[in-house]
Amino acid sequence: MEDWSARQYLKFEDERTRPPRDLLAQVPLQNPKLVVDLGCGPGNSTELLIERYQGSEVVGLDSSPDMLKKARDRLPTHKFVEADMSVWTPQPGTDLLFSNAAMQWIPDHTAVMWRLLEALPKGGVLAVQMPDNTREPALVFQREVGEEGPWRDHPEIKAAARDDLPPPEFYYDLLKSACSRIDIWHSVYNHVMASPEAITEWFKGSSLQPFLSPLDAAAREKFLAAYTRKIVGAYKPRFDGKVLLRFPRLFIVAVR
Ligand SMILES: C[S@@+](CC[C@H](N)C(=O)[O-])C[C@H]1O[C@@H](n2cnc3c(N)ncnc32)[C@H](O)[C@@H]1O
Repeated sequence: MEDWSARQYLKFEDERTRPPRDLLAQVPLQNPKLVVDLGCGPGNSTELLIERYQGSEVVGLDSSPDMLKKARDRLPTHKFVEADMSVWTPQPGTDLLFSNAAMQWIPDHTAVMWRLLEALPKGGVLAVQMPDNTREPALVFQREVGEEGPWRDHPEIKAAARDDLPPPEFYYDLLKSACSRIDIWHSVYNHVMASPEAITEWFKGSSLQPFLSPLDAAAREKFLAAYTRKIVGAYKPRFDGKVLLRFPRLFIVAVR
């Protein structure tokens, strides 16, 4: 996948920082020694961890140099490392692995979650939030436009859509044998967007990226125009012209 654009992602920072707040609120640790924010992006989720755990070492980890640059500019006194969390292993003494809106990008993320959980000491926590929105119109339209345009045979576009997440029962059966406690829940947000076009802007910072990055500038414009037409047809303005972006998300807090 091409490098993430931190600037595009941060256009909706308030909305995107709400789920990590809700995830962190359920983490039952008061004074962890070492906290790692996996897929820290531009540092918005890392900042929440630093605010809550003032006496702890908090490290951000991401595979994107663009995101890491933004994170370092934002939190210059903290450590950020470039690494691929699908093969990264926590150092001994790590007691919180926090991952907001990142794990879903990893092929076979369930095996990675198991490996990371197993690497934690007793009482350590793996806290993960992932979008569970692959059946929402905004994501279905990405797949449709990918299949309908002149780009349809491009191998990266064919592989660009994320698979559906497994159901909560799957994560329970997978993780519980290594947990003293596990909490799994969904929240459905209804983000208020200024217009249907704002939904396109939102996803340009996340799930549209794998569709757009293989294309040249002209093809990107065509892709986005076709996508936005579908969005305008499906997300109807409310009485004040705003539209609601329904956004289901899956949360897991697993205590070793
Ligand atoms: C949607 S952003 C989430 C940013 C932030 N955690 C938040 O709460 O808003 C997803 C991040 O995961 C990172 N990412 C994706 N795959 C990764 C991997 N295999 N290893 C490390 N980071 C990864 C991306 O570079 C991106 O910065």
